[in-house]
Amino acid sequence: MTEIGQLPYSSADRGWLRYEKKCSAPYLSGIVYHDSNLGEVTQAAIRELRYAISQMTGTEPTLTTTSVNSSEKSSLHNPHIRLALIDEEGLPEVLQTKLLAEQLEEEGFALKSFPQGEGETVYILGKTEKGLLYGTFHLLRILQTEEDALTELDVFENPKNRLRMMNHWDNMDGSIERGYAGQSIFFKDNRFVENDERIRDYARMMASLGINGISINNVNVHEVETRLITSEFLPDVEKVAAIFRSYGITMYLSVNYASPIQLGGLETADPLDTRVGAWWKAKAEEVYSVIPDFGGFVVKADSEHRPGPFTYGRTHAEGSNMLAEALEPYGGIVIWRCFVYNCLQDWRDRTTDRARAAYDHFKPLDGQFKENVILQIKNGPMDFQVREGVSPLIGAMPHTNQMLEFQITQEYTGQQKHLCYLIPQWKEILDFDTYAHGTHSEIKRVVSGELFPYAYSGITAVINVGDDENWTGHTLAQANLYGYGRLTWNPDLSEEQITAEWIHQTFGTEPDVVDHISSMLADSWEIYENYTSPLGVGWMVNPGHHYGPNVDGYEYSVWGTYHFADCEGIGVNRTVKDGTGYVGQYFPENAERYESLVTCPDKLLLFFHHVPYTHKLHSGSTVIQHIYDTHFAGVEGVNSLIQNWSSLEGKIDDKRYSGVMARLKHQYEHAKEWRDIINTYFYRKSGIADELSRTIY
Ligand code: GCU
Repeated sequence: MTEIGQLPYSSADRGWLRYEKKCSAPYLSGIVYHDSNLGEVTQAAIRELRYAISQMTGTEPTLTTTSVNSSEKSSLHNPHIRLALIDEEGLPEVLQTKLLAEQLEEEGFALKSFPQGEGETVYILGKTEKGLLYGTFHLLRILQTEEDALTELDVFENPKNRLRMMNHWDNMDGSIERGYAGQSIFFKDNRFVENDERIRDYARMMASLGINGISINNVNVHEVETRLITSEFLPDVEKVAAIFRSYGITMYLSVNYASPIQLGGLETADPLDTRVGAWWKAKAEEVYSVIPDFGGFVVKADSEHRPGPFTYGRTHAEGSNMLAEALEPYGGIVIWRCFVYNCLQDWRDRTTDRARAAYDHFKPLDGQFKENVILQIKNGPMDFQVREGVSPLIGAMPHTNQMLEFQITQEYTGQQKHLCYLIPQWKEILDFDTYAHGTHSEIKRVVSGELFPYAYSGITAVINVGDDENWTGHTLAQANLYGYGRLTWNPDLSEEQITAEWIHQTFGTEPDVVDHISSMLADSWEIYENYTSPLGVGWMVNPGHHYGPNVDGYEYSVWGTYHFADCEGIGVNRTVKDGTGYVGQYFPENAERYESLVTCPDKLLLFFHHVPYTHKLHSGSTVIQHIYDTHFAGVEGVNSLIQNWSSLEGKIDDKRYSGVMARLKHQYEHAKEWRDIINTYFYRKSGIADELSRTIY
């Protein structure tokens, strides 16, 4: 019998894979599988099941293959969990495998329980080993979250998105761009780490959410990372790819568009120069000879000083198609980021508007990209602000593959020192109706490929993990990681369900614990928004590191004019009528809504309009009073987070309790600083006093 191996791998925090809830169901005493399925992904599933069951029951389950000799056959009649591919011989008719074969996609699974003998058999069914792995994790999730759910188990799931990815912004020196949870789990001192236990744990965590693609290095590719695609590092990349592979995850790399110059000794990276195309073709051949199932390249080109096709007067279609041609013979893809804008723009020139950039650059190219190019588009036109409009480019290119990019790492949302649960924000974005193809053209349906016949599409995100023991710095920031993964599998899951699942698996099911943590998470985005930048105007952060309040601070803006605040008013006029015209990039239903002050939602008012401080919001408050009120309320909100958390003392282990408490206390002090700086700035600018005469410093 093949040696399946044992978990756990590292001593890091187990996140949501703790399996602390006790369970004694009879079928947990054995695991049965067919020998011929025993590839490495099925082994990973069995390993996880065995570990989880031992944790939950205190007893290790027996492992039995269906080809056992007759003396061992009896264990097949005892209650057990059985992993089976649907085309396997000897499966009972009641499973209706023919029907399942029609309905299940490659990564989908079904879970079914049937009474048999003295107990019952729980089947984990898939078309592929990946289906078995995802089914296994789902079964374990059910066991940890729902009481007695297995008696009549009948679950059927296919993932809604084909690409469910993570982007690391890890540098090979071990640092992480916009990382707030320690150093890289992959790299140290310009080499790969030697101990891969954390990587194995990480792969398990990702697989438990259905993540199927990961790019491990920063989109800003420096000199050393440029060499990841050379013989110097490819064997190391393959080692990590092998770990990923055993969890159904495909390896991607960010590449430097100027590689033909830096690595190949050419004097150009012009995509239409045949020597450049030939260089990339040879490079692709080399990469695939080491990593046969390599996913492809992630590219940040012509953005924030990165090289790209603009240098040679070429379009982004020409630039990406050349790479796509090189990867095509191997089934590889090019993930081309649309974060292309002039970071040196002078905001005093009111005819330019950064928000317009992605649409202006890419929309005219619709239909010109090869089938294995996917445009990766940030959720908003700016840069992962606490609140901004949704990117009008999403859904605007019916003939070009698109995928959505979120930011789990909390660059502008408190850097994992502040609590900011992002699932409500992402739900709002995914449910946003673009009207790209009539009503019900929600972003989730664009990026799932339901609306237009994309060859590839999906969701990706900049991840928030590092080598901190708890992975995410703030323990509660694990919820963003978990929730993101669940949404990529199924964007229709509700915030409440995701929150409950995560808390049950991470902190247990005691109602008091669940209630308090749920309400903390649910309120946290609004609380954060309240004491930071108001009404969708964005930024207001210190330059460079982007932490803490600084109204005029953002570095890519001359003299803070991105918010256009003066003594009369504030906000960016992006209307078609007399503004930058950005609003006109939306489909008419949304454009009309945002264009008019009457229908523009309060929360995005300053993102779309420049108004006097005395402008009345739909809420009845004036803009200036809203700024004061929300900033006071935000600080109070953090105070209530602290109250909620302190009521859980003794109900949560000390380590996690005190770690979170320390961060909440910091958040409280920092929220006061935000409140005072923002309120003072606008009091001085506007000269209008607070109606409630509170002290404004
Ligand atoms: C932001 C972020 C950068 C990052 C960039 C990107 O500007 O601050 O660190 O490189 O986004 O998405 O490429």
